[in-house]
Amino acid sequence: MFEHLKIVQYPDPRLKRASKPVTQFDDRLRSLVARMIELMHESKGVGLAAPQVGENLRVFVVNPSQEPGDDRVYINPELSEASRVEDCAEEGCLSLPGINAEIARATAVRIDAFDLEGKPFNDEQGGYIARIWQHEFDHLNGTLIIDRMGMLAKLAARKTLKELEDAYAQEHARAGGKKD
Ligand code: CO
Repeated sequence: MFEHLKIVQYPDPRLKRASKPVTQFDDRLRSLVARMIELMHESKGVGLAAPQVGENLRVFVVNPSQEPGDDRVYINPELSEASRVEDCAEEGCLSLPGINAEIARATAVRIDAFDLEGKPFNDEQGGYIARIWQHEFDHLNGTLIIDRMGMLAKLAARKTLKELEDAYAQEHARAGGKKD
C-alpha cells in the first residue's frame, strides 16, 4: 500500500506542515509504519517521522541502536520535559542531507503515546533516546533542525540549503512536464 513512499527532502512543503492525529489503527497505519521502518533502516537512520515520507500524520519510528529488533513506534505522541536542563549535541536529518548542527534539547523527557493496536503507553528517557524523540516530535509540528540552528550554523548551511532548493525546483519542474 505504501511501498512507493520515499523520504522527502527539504524544501518539500509537507515537512513544514503540522501533522494530524491518527484516528484509525488499521491495516493502512500498519502498512505505513512498516514502510517507514524499512526506509529508516535503508537510510541508516535512528528515527523517521511520517511527514518525512510525505504523510502528515502524527507517527514516528525510532531505532536508537540500529539493530533489527530495536524498532519502536510512537503514535499521537506527547512529550513533556522530565528535566529542565538542556544540552547541545550534533544532529542530522534524513530530510536535510549534508547538514549537521549542534541543537539544544532537554536532557530527559517523558513520552505518552499509542502503539499500533491503539493501546496507550508511556516511557521516560534521558540522553540519546530523549534527543531522538524531541527531533522526531518536532517533525510532527513542521519544525526542522534548521529552525533550531544558531545564526552561524545557519550561515554555514546556506549553500547546502540552496542546493537542496534548486534540486527540489528542478524535480518539481520535471514532474510538471516542463523542461529543465
Ligand atoms: Co529529521
